[in-house]
Amino acid sequence: MTGSATRSVRLSGWGRYAPAQILTNADLERMVDTSDDWIVSRTGIRERHVAAAHETTASMGAVAGLRAIRTAGLEPDDIDLIILATLTPDYWMPSTAALVKEAIGNSRAAAFDLAAACSGFVYAYATASAYLAAGMAKHALVIGAELLTRFLDYADRSTCILFGDGAGAVVLSASDEPAAPVGIELTTEPQGAYMIWLPAGGSRSPSSAETIARGEHKIRMEGKETYRFATRTLASTALAAVDKAGWKPEDVDLFVPHQANIRIIEAVAKGLGLPMDKMFVNLDRYGNTSAASVPIALAEAVNEGRVKVGDKLVFVAFGAGFTSGAVAMEWTADPAAGPSGDAAVTAGDVVIRMPVDWDSVDPIPAALVEVLARPLPLDLDLSDVVPGEPEHAHPSTH
Ligand code: ACO
Repeated sequence: MTGSATRSVRLSGWGRYAPAQILTNADLERMVDTSDDWIVSRTGIRERHVAAAHETTASMGAVAGLRAIRTAGLEPDDIDLIILATLTPDYWMPSTAALVKEAIGNSRAAAFDLAAACSGFVYAYATASAYLAAGMAKHALVIGAELLTRFLDYADRSTCILFGDGAGAVVLSASDEPAAPVGIELTTEPQGAYMIWLPAGGSRSPSSAETIARGEHKIRMEGKETYRFATRTLASTALAAVDKAGWKPEDVDLFVPHQANIRIIEAVAKGLGLPMDKMFVNLDRYGNTSAASVPIALAEAVNEGRVKVGDKLVFVAFGAGFTSGAVAMEWTADPAAGPSGDAAVTAGDVVIRMPVDWDSVDPIPAALVEVLARPLPLDLDLSDVVPGEPEHAHPSTH
């Protein structure tokens, strides 16, 4: 990495991965006092993906990352910076980014994790852009990956219905071509720090039999406060990024917002005076995948033909912290590269190395054992079944 004059930054690759197994609202009806009707009308969510026992945040992030690298027409060793945004790392240490680096066969990159909850991907995008603009890297892999279903309280109907698993990634590349307009806005409002919170496991309260007995290793949330923050901040943060790019909201071709709740996205569209067809929505099929939400949505939007060269895009997210972030950018890559990049990589192409003398206890929450044990849905679109894996995840009752 050598320093030089400011360089322009382009998004050159994108990819996503979602585990094969699906958790439906009907499944949740059997776990907590809820209904498909309540979940759909209050959130817009119909189903979410659930990671199998052999999958981790690193394995999902590595597949999405490798797909983004292939879409960019690059080799893994072309990447010299990997930033992985997550609130559900494989371990406290090493970083999940380090595991991804090894799994994709990269020998050169500086790799680290970034913690900004659901805004993490946008924060990581901004950080990587700054590295590239400063000449400190040429190709950066930016990943948002989350395995939230192992951190939920399946007795708490206000949180367990919201979240799902998955990963999305982009490659950003430095270029000497003239820079297209770009606007980046990041905010942090710590007065909301305990509105979405995972109390135990950190230095304030290390994991112990007592913290586990109290259920403090699971996500807690004040839904109403978070909702209020989200509707206010998503619109203001997006507006600030649009303004920094020198645009007006109506100039934007597509907003790719954090996929938390359809009512939040509708409120933002209304606040910005924009029709809903300018908002990309896929939360009905994924739920809230936190830091993975924006890059999964972006990859789907591009691969579905919603984006063309020259389009003005805005990625905008909010999350625990309270954090928020938005990137306004002009699309320059060939959208047709996406599906072939996806097809070039299957989940079996990455292996997260385990230590020789250690294995984890079964990671599957008791409430999900039955769901993960049933046959996989047949209409998979991304060849996401790991070759050699049994059709049924192992039926532990842990
Ligand atoms: N099924 C049925 N009833 C439910 C459920 C459920 N799953 N969940 C809550 N309820 C009940 C409540 O108990 C309450 O009942 P009560 O009136 O008898 O007390 C009633 O429904 C209304 O509850 P509200 O909390 O007012 O429902 P609201 O319309 O606000 O929707 C929701 C709740 C969906 C959580 C909403 O507040 C929301 O989406 N908030 C934002 C959450 C979010 O986006 N979090 C992600 C943050 S990103 C990150 O960094 C992780």
